Amino acid sequence: MTKRAHLHHLTQQLGRYLKWQRACGTDAFVPAGDEVRQVLEERKKALQEREVEALKAGMAEPEQRPQTGQPSQAQTPSPSPQPQPPQQAQQSRSPFAQDEKKKTPRRESAKRITASTPLWKKHRAIHELDQERRQKAASAAEERAGRSAAHYMADEVPENPETPAEKMAFLRNYLGNCRRCPLHEGRTTVVFGEGNPRARLMFVGEGPGGKEDEAGRPFVGPSGQLLTKMIGAMGLSRDEVYITNVVKCRPPQNRNPAPLEIKECAPFLRKQIEVIEPEVIVTVGRFATNTLLDSDEALGKLRGRWHSYLGVAVMPTYHPAYLLRNEGDRELRGKAWSDLQMVMEKLNLREDK
Ligand code: URA
Repeated sequence: MTKRAHLHHLTQQLGRYLKWQRACGTDAFVPAGDEVRQVLEERKKALQEREVEALKAGMAEPEQRPQTGQPSQAQTPSPSPQPQPPQQAQQSRSPFAQDEKKKTPRRESAKRITASTPLWKKHRAIHELDQERRQKAASAAEERAGRSAAHYMADEVPENPETPAEKMAFLRNYLGNCRRCPLHEGRTTVVFGEGNPRARLMFVGEGPGGKEDEAGRPFVGPSGQLLTKMIGAMGLSRDEVYITNVVKCRPPQNRNPAPLEIKECAPFLRKQIEVIEPEVIVTVGRFATNTLLDSDEALGKLRGRWHSYLGVAVMPTYHPAYLLRNEGDRELRGKAWSDLQMVMEKLNLREDK
């Protein structure tokens, strides 16, 4: 060992020793005077009591109560004790009661902590409770992430969104009761979009129609029903994909959105795409396709091949309303299906490969 490494090792050892001393409630260099030593003793005792209180507080959570409903010795009775549901009381008499007890041995050991318990045991119990809380918080966050932004209530909008679902909720809240363009005058509801905020596949239409305007949901009218069938034929459900439109408010008489309306609304679509980060976007109809691809080519020329928007693969296809208007045209349906098959291939959804 070099001198330098030796010195580094000694410094580390000293650091650990000082930390240990602090954890024990005494200063690193214990002064000789009785008075000071007494103060240090009291400080140590107070520290231990605080730790015990922290443990008790951790154990006072409802699901941590003992199965019998009786507070344990180490447990502080809470100001408003929650009556145990009868189902839980039954469980304690069930033959599985023993197994249930086995599932939480650590918590049980934490309950036995008293002021005289050695410090290392207390620290371990605190650490275990801490880990448990962190795990709970992580699974709650996961659950939130899986929820659609549409399920968030206004007062649930997170201040610092992290997950895609939280970011979508934030974005929806930011859009609010939008009055950025004249479309707000004739609309009933803002149709933001819906589906999985982590979808691999996103569908973008033109703008809400009458049914969508009433329901506040995209593609729920007749063309929406056909779109739902098309999604089903791909082996997916509406919940698995994300569906939205270029403009979020219904244009009067279902006319095409005007340039100013697109200009005001497009940043929200862009942000939705950035949050979701889909692998594929299917633009339905000429309007959505031309807007996203910034092109004025005919849909017939653009469909059936891959394009790109913000680095995401884009497949244009016919609008379901157009397919419905030309119901007898089998060739048209065949082309739309072949577009979707290309998407399935890209997403590895095809079973016949
Ligand atoms: N047509 C669209 O383009 N979008 C809808 O949401 C409904 C019909």
